[in-house]
Amino acid sequence: MTDELPTDPLIALRPWEAPEVTSWGRLPMNAVDRRTGGLPLDGDWRFQLLSAPDAPVGGSWSTAYVPGAWTVQDTDDLPQYTNVTMPFREFPPKVPAVNPTGVYERELDVPAEWAGRRVVLQVGAAESVLLVHVDGRPVGISKDSHLAAEFDLTGVIRPGGRSVLRLTVVKWSDATHIEDQDHWWHGGITRSVLLYATDPLYLADVTVRARRDGELRVDCLVRNAAGDRALPGGWYVTGDLDGEPLAQDAEFDRLNTEDDRVSDFLGEARIHAVVPEVRTWNAEEPELYGLTVRLHRADGTVADTSHHRVGFRDVEIVGRDLLVNGERVFIRGVNRHDFHPLTGRTVSYDDMRADLVVLKRFGFNAIRTSHYPNDPTLYDLADELGFYVVDEADIESHDHAHEIADDPRYLNSFVDRVSRMVLRDKNHPSIIIWSLGNESDYGANHDAAAGWVRRHDPTRPIQYEGAAKLGWADPDVASDIACPMYAALEDCVAHALSGEQTKPLIQCEYSHAMGNSNGTLADHWAAIESTPGLQGGFIWEFWDHGILQRVSDGRPVGRTGAGLYDNGVAAPGHRWAYGGDFGEALHDGAFVADGIVFPDRTPKPAMYEHREIAAPVRIRCFRHEGVVLANHQHFRGLDWLTGTWELALADGRTLTGPAKLPDLRPGETAAVPLPFAVPADGGEAWLTLRVTVAEDQAWAPAGTEVCAPQLRLRAADAPRERVAVGPAVEVDGEGLLLHPLLTAGPTLSLWRAPTDNDELGGIAPRWRAWGLDRLVRKVVSVRREGGLVTVLAEYAGTVGVVRHRQEFTPVEGGVRVDESAELPQEFHDVARVGSVFETVGGLDLLEWFGQGPWESYPDRAAGAPVGHHSLPVDELFTPYLRPQESGGRHGVRRFTLSAPDATGLAVELDEPRQVSVTRYRAEDLTAVTHHDELVPRAGCVVHLDAAHRGLGTASCGPDTFPSYLVAPGIHRWSWTLRVL
Ligand code: GAL
Ligand code: MG
Repeated sequence: MTDELPTDPLIALRPWEAPEVTSWGRLPMNAVDRRTGGLPLDGDWRFQLLSAPDAPVGGSWSTAYVPGAWTVQDTDDLPQYTNVTMPFREFPPKVPAVNPTGVYERELDVPAEWAGRRVVLQVGAAESVLLVHVDGRPVGISKDSHLAAEFDLTGVIRPGGRSVLRLTVVKWSDATHIEDQDHWWHGGITRSVLLYATDPLYLADVTVRARRDGELRVDCLVRNAAGDRALPGGWYVTGDLDGEPLAQDAEFDRLNTEDDRVSDFLGEARIHAVVPEVRTWNAEEPELYGLTVRLHRADGTVADTSHHRVGFRDVEIVGRDLLVNGERVFIRGVNRHDFHPLTGRTVSYDDMRADLVVLKRFGFNAIRTSHYPNDPTLYDLADELGFYVVDEADIESHDHAHEIADDPRYLNSFVDRVSRMVLRDKNHPSIIIWSLGNESDYGANHDAAAGWVRRHDPTRPIQYEGAAKLGWADPDVASDIACPMYAALEDCVAHALSGEQTKPLIQCEYSHAMGNSNGTLADHWAAIESTPGLQGGFIWEFWDHGILQRVSDGRPVGRTGAGLYDNGVAAPGHRWAYGGDFGEALHDGAFVADGIVFPDRTPKPAMYEHREIAAPVRIRCFRHEGVVLANHQHFRGLDWLTGTWELALADGRTLTGPAKLPDLRPGETAAVPLPFAVPADGGEAWLTLRVTVAEDQAWAPAGTEVCAPQLRLRAADAPRERVAVGPAVEVDGEGLLLHPLLTAGPTLSLWRAPTDNDELGGIAPRWRAWGLDRLVRKVVSVRREGGLVTVLAEYAGTVGVVRHRQEFTPVEGGVRVDESAELPQEFHDVARVGSVFETVGGLDLLEWFGQGPWESYPDRAAGAPVGHHSLPVDELFTPYLRPQESGGRHGVRRFTLSAPDATGLAVELDEPRQVSVTRYRAEDLTAVTHHDELVPRAGCVVHLDAAHRGLGTASCGPDTFPSYLVAPGIHRWSWTLRVL
């Protein structure tokens, strides 16, 4: 029996079911950047997947790419998506006996010139337990799937020699119970692996504090790996900032030579300087200085060097305001996961930069690293491009939150995860708040972690939603910010007005972006900007986590799939997989697809809404001396922007001319003249300022549009009277309009293919219960009188009947349709009230006067300016991963649908209406579960809505506001159909 027990101590310890064991043999975390100059160990490794960590390692190897999750490489352990529910039934700290374990192996050729140096192995991230062996010898253990682990290999490897490095990664562990974040489950080494060497005398940590008054403090921790065998006395530290030497004010060798214990601690040194006329850092103007810290031996030679980019800035809470450099900045944030549709978790520099560039271009200035420390490069980029970051620790025990928050067995891991994050990231100016984690209830383990942070880094506030929810103003909980998730706007406003608010109110999550969503975003921001005490929030979330999947065999495509998607859509034969698509028995479906960008980073229409809400330049009003503009930034002038005026007139004209933006400081306003006279004729008139980047920014070349604020200069003319001309309109025996360009005449529609918000918010189930998806139409009467035809019909649901009246009047070149629908009280909240008809094929271009060009809905219409727009019909539809109501355009006054030879139809509406023109009936959309299954119709399905329900965010959070609901009672609308 005994020889069946594992002899390897790392296995015998069973660290995957021992929460007290957070590491063994791991070096302390620090902020010295070792990413350059070492020996990268990325690439193909020998690999085998065991069924359990204590299963014997076999003789047959495949290969796996590092960094990368094995779940998206060629293994049988595929991704699984669950939100709250753990993927297994065991209670913490237990895990299933069947526990996929990846064994990675490769040779290590240690450079001969590293003789006498200290050699360190750095593993960027491993999910969820890492065991390290070199030449069969145990070296170390680490947990935390989102932070690097370092191990000293100096005595283990031989410079000039070859060793075998084995990294064993155990997928399920006690730590999995505190990594229960809402995204895909993967396994593997997901960040880079590196071997580097330092002098035995080395910088063990560097802490930089740079204030907005120019004060710079650099604290260095110095160690000597040679222990007391060769104490190199007389060492010292120097630094320079942008090449200029910094004065230093300290004598530092606090060397303890009195006893002969072997100690690697040499001492601390501080560089202290004041930078005159410092250029401060903020998200708008992220000024960085290059700091180089050098550790010298007594003879002056350099033993170690550390480079940092320093941003001089202050963060403080004064009263109930969070201030950056004394300014109450708005937090226009998003929650971002490290995600990629091919690699799952592994993100490259280029990908991260592209993420941040998109966010900058759409007006975001803040990121919460939901829900774990991100790849280190993300923070470099945030420093450089300008973002305020909430750095969040890798703690989410959602499914067992209450048990774990006070479980002393998990105490180590809480403090370990929070403190290691702070130790790694403390020098980034972009980080303005530390977060203790997400959805883990609130317990003593949190307070322990918070206590550590307050001592180590008193320069930044702490937030934790689980604590804040006990009382937004409670002084005794470990959250300096009132950071609720999905709080009702009215509750936020009420709190701000209550007189009881003591902390900044910044929602850590709001406006859930699942499917066709983000309704009421503009209402939120109107309240935030006008209510002292409200400072913003973080949209949930950036990514739709669709993994690119081959439809034929159901496997993830993996890292070679670049080019197999475009514009938000997977190439034929592929699709964006969501929960359940990898055959998972337990999963949470499309809830993982809840971002404001598609899995390939194509912005969803909601991004344009955000862009406009965040506009740095606003139009205040129009006065005789011109248009009054305001600078809506916190720090920057307008000199980096330029613009073009655009005046759209209802008669079809658009006048344009250059805009010269005034030289305004933040908060200032000034009137500017228009480059053209506003014509006295032409009807309804809309003035748009297209604001573009004047000179290249790090995140946008000159010419990039950043916003398009708009002002109505003139209202529409009164509608024309109806006069019957021409032959009578034709209807069939059912009272349906007959028209050469329509394959189905207009009928009443109260239904839309439910959005994710409609479904998960419980709204669509109610509609189905009322029978709105299958109303039965019955003609009551068809009356012909003069040229007029009047059709009365009833549409019966299960609980009520809608009376619908259509009056068809022949008019010059077409037919005018006057409609009314009387909704009974039973139908007190429906999707829409309007007409739906279908056209013949070949009408492939939509041109309209109304809001656009992007998709817009009644409660998400701030980002789509009124103008003359034109798009192919196929581009009107938004390819949400799970098909649903999509492609709508708000505020449409009139449109044409035409064939390439300019024949087609024209529709004029009595008022700005919600219109959609797609290739799909609502039932086509509800019949399938993925976008790739949709089969477009040849003709168009056209909806003209008298009223359309707002989108809201009810898949997680508040529904739309009452003003955006479709009420019962009588709805009237009119439109005219003409042949082009
Ligand atoms: C929040 C949670 C997120 C995500 C979101 C719903 O409660 O913090 O991780 O699950 O809900 O998409
Ligand atoms: Mg959760």
